[in-house]
Amino acid sequence: MNTQVLHVQPEAIDRASIQAAAAIIRAGGLVAFPTETVYGLGANATDAAAVEGIFAAKQRPATDPIIVHIAGPESLSQIAIDIPERAWQLAHAFWPGPLTLILRRGPNIPANVSAGRDTVAVRMPAHPVAQALITAAGVPIAAPSANMFSRPSATTAAHVLEDLNGRIAMVLDGGPTSIGLESTVLDLTGDVPTVLRPGGISIEKLRELLPDVTAREQFQETDISAESPGQLIRHYSPRAEMRLYETQRDFKKMLMGTLQETLIGKRVGILLMSYEIAQVESVDGAEVFDLGPTPEDAAKHLFAGLRELDARGVDVIFAHGYARDGIGSAIWDRLLRAAEGKVQ
Ligand code: TXA
Ligand code: MG
Repeated sequence: MNTQVLHVQPEAIDRASIQAAAAIIRAGGLVAFPTETVYGLGANATDAAAVEGIFAAKQRPATDPIIVHIAGPESLSQIAIDIPERAWQLAHAFWPGPLTLILRRGPNIPANVSAGRDTVAVRMPAHPVAQALITAAGVPIAAPSANMFSRPSATTAAHVLEDLNGRIAMVLDGGPTSIGLESTVLDLTGDVPTVLRPGGISIEKLRELLPDVTAREQFQETDISAESPGQLIRHYSPRAEMRLYETQRDFKKMLMGTLQETLIGKRVGILLMSYEIAQVESVDGAEVFDLGPTPEDAAKHLFAGLRELDARGVDVIFAHGYARDGIGSAIWDRLLRAAEGKVQ
């Protein structure tokens, strides 16, 4: 299959490109498109065969459910049933935006979208290209992140092509995504609202509206029914091995670590904040990737950094976490998975 790439400017959306993409979706094909979090790999969420195509293209295990993307809260009742009042309140407060709600699955959504569960994940993305595509398609769009299974998510069209060129019909290139990490996944089907995956909306923000919100323990989010959840720790993985440290305070220890690896002949990559790069004269022999000045910048550039250091051919990648509030807890979640749960 030849993957067509169409450039779409978010501020001046070309209608013809959106129509071409929407036609592919309606015909049961796959289109990758930008959202404010990461690129999604979209298919008609009401078409089980089209959704099957997503699993095949990504080599995603059929046990991992997919998020349904809608153009507005008014579509919620076509996706879910028994919608609790707090879902409407959350939609009102945080949509469009990086919050995914888990609700009871309605009859229009085939079981494979939800990996056989009776729940469904729904969100309304804020990106104008995503919104235009869903509206033009006239159907809800099921879309996981547009990467091969277990690879870092794609935050540019180039990343999508790195993983999926020749496997999907089209990529809408709307430039780099702004948040860079995926949406917060919030389960509203139990007694207590539970964050299954930290993401673009912080738990502190959710708590303002949901004082009883809790967070699921790290590492179990991807599939609670999995028999060996340990396997699921591997996610967002670069090809290189990760050396993960807790926070910025471990900066010195990190530099010592890079030196040791270099001495035994390994090629070393390191993800650093701009001010950290300014502090070191050189990280001897290491490939340095600048994540930018703030934790928000680090979130935005994290997946690009992992992919870029892989491309430079390093054997190990050094990185550290940030304070675990705000976006810091989502960054830590992704880093921990990239490192398969191992912290130095
Ligand atoms: O920001 C995002 O959420 C991006 C963009 C494209 O919207 N999408 C994304 O999809 O990250 P994906 O498939 O990479 O991650 C979806 C997460 C997975 O952890 C999945 O297990 C969980 O949401 N999920 C989906 N449906 C679920 C359900 N019914 N119950 C529990 N978890 C669910
Ligand atoms: Mg994903």
